[in-house]
Amino acid sequence: MSAEREEEAGSSKGTYLRKAFKTGKKIKEAFVCATALGIYYLYLNGKKVGEDEMAPGWTSYRKHLCYQTYDVTGLLREGGNVLGAMLGAGWYKGLMGLDHKRNNYGTQTALLAQLLIRYEDGSTQTVVTDDSWEGKDSPVVFAEIYDGEIYDARLECPGWCEPGAGKQGWHKTERIPWEKRTLTAQGAGKVSQMDALPAKRVFVTPGGDTVVDFGQNLTGWIQVSAKGRPGDVIHLECFETLDAAGNVYRENLRTAKESVKYIFGEQEAITYHPSFTFLGFRYAKITEFPGEPKPDQFTAKTLHTKMEPTGEVHTSNPLLNQLWHNIVWGMKGNFLDIPTDCPQRDERLGWTGDAQIFCRTACSIMNTDTFFRKWLKDVAADQTPEGGVPHVVPDLLAGSENWTQGTHSAAAWGDAAVINPWNLYLAYGDKEVLKEQYDSMKAWIGFMKNHAVDYIWNYKLQFGDWVALDAEEGSYYGATPNDLTCTAYFAYSTGLFVKIAKVLGRYEDASAYQELYEKIVEKFRKTFFNEDGSMTVQTQTAHIVALYFNLVPEAFRETTVEGLRNLLRKENGHLVTGFVGTPYFCHALSQNGCVREAYDLLLKEDFPSWLYQVKMGATTVWEHWDGLKPDGTMWSADMNSFNHYAYGAVGEWMFRVMAGLETSEKEGGYQHTVIAPRIGGGLTEAGASFRSVYGRVSSHWEVQGERITLTVEIPVNTTAEIRLADAGEILADGGLSFEATQEGPRALTGSGTYVISFLRKQE
Ligand code: BGC
Repeated sequence: MSAEREEEAGSSKGTYLRKAFKTGKKIKEAFVCATALGIYYLYLNGKKVGEDEMAPGWTSYRKHLCYQTYDVTGLLREGGNVLGAMLGAGWYKGLMGLDHKRNNYGTQTALLAQLLIRYEDGSTQTVVTDDSWEGKDSPVVFAEIYDGEIYDARLECPGWCEPGAGKQGWHKTERIPWEKRTLTAQGAGKVSQMDALPAKRVFVTPGGDTVVDFGQNLTGWIQVSAKGRPGDVIHLECFETLDAAGNVYRENLRTAKESVKYIFGEQEAITYHPSFTFLGFRYAKITEFPGEPKPDQFTAKTLHTKMEPTGEVHTSNPLLNQLWHNIVWGMKGNFLDIPTDCPQRDERLGWTGDAQIFCRTACSIMNTDTFFRKWLKDVAADQTPEGGVPHVVPDLLAGSENWTQGTHSAAAWGDAAVINPWNLYLAYGDKEVLKEQYDSMKAWIGFMKNHAVDYIWNYKLQFGDWVALDAEEGSYYGATPNDLTCTAYFAYSTGLFVKIAKVLGRYEDASAYQELYEKIVEKFRKTFFNEDGSMTVQTQTAHIVALYFNLVPEAFRETTVEGLRNLLRKENGHLVTGFVGTPYFCHALSQNGCVREAYDLLLKEDFPSWLYQVKMGATTVWEHWDGLKPDGTMWSADMNSFNHYAYGAVGEWMFRVMAGLETSEKEGGYQHTVIAPRIGGGLTEAGASFRSVYGRVSSHWEVQGERITLTVEIPVNTTAEIRLADAGEILADGGLSFEATQEGPRALTGSGTYVISFLRKQE
């Protein structure tokens, strides 16, 4: 039911809906299932139901609309009751997407609810949304995802959701037709208020603005406590960074207002946070405030999908620890129901490439299993009939007149359809996700195959090695040609699909796609390698993907590695890679005898590098290497997010290689862990832990002179293999028997904690 009228399609106001009802007998238990077109908060007898925020989240609503279920036994009373909801425009009706269009899914917000009451005597009663519900405008006079919220407390309706509440201003509601088949049980983590960060300081900028600083770039709300008279205003305008002069910098938000306004009503002392929007910020300009604002009046509340924290990385290098912190906060900031590119500007979309690149790192940091599975359902649902994968999911681009160059199927972006399920399987060992997504993966590979010409794949709009520094001045497109990135990913995804088919025992597919895989690889080799073993494309990214995706003819491996080292030297040891090359750079080096170079790259502190950002004061990961340049100027405001998780994908190297925590592909889920740490970078200590489905698994090393002590934990009912590529003589074997192999000492073991020490291998 909707409290809005069709003519209000352009409105961003909030509404109340409610229904009074009576219960008759002794209540045993009661549950409510609810969802909305828009964002909703459910209330029963004046109390908020559950702890969810921003429900029902964002899905491809016309295909999946998640409903939530709550136990409300404790909130029901014998006698008079009122079930109610507050609704806002949200992703459903509000302005969203690169076209700045509103009403992407519909024109009126609406609530669907069913309350089931079970009485002690075995009888039941249901209360459902129907024509008897009444509606009214709420004090939320404006709320939009990009622009923020305006709350006018003068319009509050005290006791609106309590028995005996007044009728004034309430009107009939309207039934909104909706395809009920879209209803899907939530089945995934829900968005909640997570961290609470007190303000660090309130200060005045050189330009004279009063600003509150939370010391951390984040996604969520500001909760403010203040006293005021009716009509007084609190107005906060959020932003991520100060400019070189220390002044408010909001240009990179583009058209997003990120503004929150509270207008006082009768109540003098209030505590308020918005509810129908979210903001990406570290700072807020205090544009209006009753009295002098003090830091203890402001708390930042983070909002993201509730997921179990699973992984940690720690080293002896404080800058590297800060980088890990930034990666984790980049994740917190961009896992708000769907994986977004960024949380602040007028974008915040489910860009498939970003989600693909960061997925493996994310799977280590928190348990993303249900989060990604929910999103992958929409990846499949939004695929084109030919199997093309949209650039953003939920897909807001399809059919747009502004995207005539193509709205789907870019290499590295579309490959999320295969790579993400595979990563979930690796991290959590559950084959179900591979089954669920199997047809979607197959369709995506089919799409690439059908659009390939003699196995070289390319299609309409490609992002290539997006935002690489080897792009032409001012361009976003890196220097590596699309034919190469497309075909490399075509091979990689097809190769993964073969592995997936084998894991699921679908051997016919496995052999058919193995054949396809081999043809792509052969073509790649013929096209992108010269006879002398050099690559036809002299970019870092070309070499990285060729190496990491295993596309290099064995005879040319050394030349390719040398080629990559030369390209690194040419840049004085710096990367110039974008979305495609960056995630695998350290892997391509460390897998090919260049552990030292991988550490050098990771630990570079001058521009461009991961630690350059850290040294510039970053608290999350930036979109551009030159987001903030050494001279204090910035990359153009039209696309300069300071909270973009993509380059945080280096986290997986820290986890998998530095700490050496890896699951075997055959079993997945750390049923068989491969502990293969690589010592280096001048670190005296490094380690990682992961809360696997079997229990905690960890690897931690410490360096004392030439002696290295490695401590590993292997959970019960699992096995492990320990590979010590950097070991010379073993000084203490922890009770394990190591055998010498070409790759260094190796031992097999079961569960337990083992402390092993060895002398570092002489190079
Ligand atoms: C987003 C990226 C995204 C890209 C695609 C940008 O606007 O922020 O992270 O993947 O577009 O080219």
